[in-house]
Amino acid sequence: MSTLIDGRAIAAQIHTETAQRVAQLKSRGVTPGLIFIRVGEDPASQVYVSMKEKRAAELGFRSQTQVLPGDTTQADLLRLIDGFNADPQWHGILVQAPLPRQIDSTVVFAHVAPHKDVDGFHPLNVGKLMLGDPSGFVPCTPGGIHELLIRTGVPLDGAEVVVLGRGNIVGKPMASILLQKGKHANCTVTVVHSATRDIAAHCRRADILIAALGSPEFVKADMVRPGATVIDVGVNRIPDPSAKSGSRLVGDVAFADVQPKAGWITPNPGGVGPMTIAMLLANTVRAAGG
Ligand code: GUN
Repeated sequence: MSTLIDGRAIAAQIHTETAQRVAQLKSRGVTPGLIFIRVGEDPASQVYVSMKEKRAAELGFRSQTQVLPGDTTQADLLRLIDGFNADPQWHGILVQAPLPRQIDSTVVFAHVAPHKDVDGFHPLNVGKLMLGDPSGFVPCTPGGIHELLIRTGVPLDGAEVVVLGRGNIVGKPMASILLQKGKHANCTVTVVHSATRDIAAHCRRADILIAALGSPEFVKADMVRPGATVIDVGVNRIPDPSAKSGSRLVGDVAFADVQPKAGWITPNPGGVGPMTIAMLLANTVRAAGG
């Protein structure tokens, strides 16, 4: 039987550390500021951004959300970002993805000043992560998973890691973090994706299996090596006639099936999710000089 990795408890530890850094900054006359930009009315984004903003305010940040209509042009969004780039009260700028189809998120992320890019999506920060240069910002979800592994004491040096999914927000930066040479990394990383021939065979080799492919309950017990650490990044809404809303959220891991076979496993919710916010606020306090 596996042991749960309590993302809420570990995120709370990080929030406590961040609050101390916020207090130190404030004693020097600096209030860390984080501005959120949301375009359109994607329901999941509304929930995520309001959770992030609420937690930022609780920890003493200046935080605000700018909501733009769904038909906003890319040029208008870039102009808004120009203003926040130049405004010293904002140390961090977060443009929530996904963006409406008329807007190219790659262009938008590259437009945020790299020293305010607390999401770690600007090409300069992506490059620094790849190069192992710690002066950049690491994307929040893979950065949070890294902290979960470190603070849980999961052995990393030489570990076989399989990352399911090659997205820019989780899969690719996750692989980059864990394959670096050095402390708390040094893993042998395999990234599997939709064109991988035998996904299950790769997964069964993993000491650490990180599922970030966005496919409901994709990882089953027969894909997991006994005792492996299993990290579930997925948030998928599936139909459920027995639920009042007609649907429910599930991860990328079939939790009830996998839990008896895993060593450590993240619950979902309560695993990776809280860590994303914790790392965002930790990045922002650093952007403010704390
Ligand atoms: N959408 C899903 N995850 C993220 C994230 O970490 N940052 C932003 N900006 N958008 C997201």
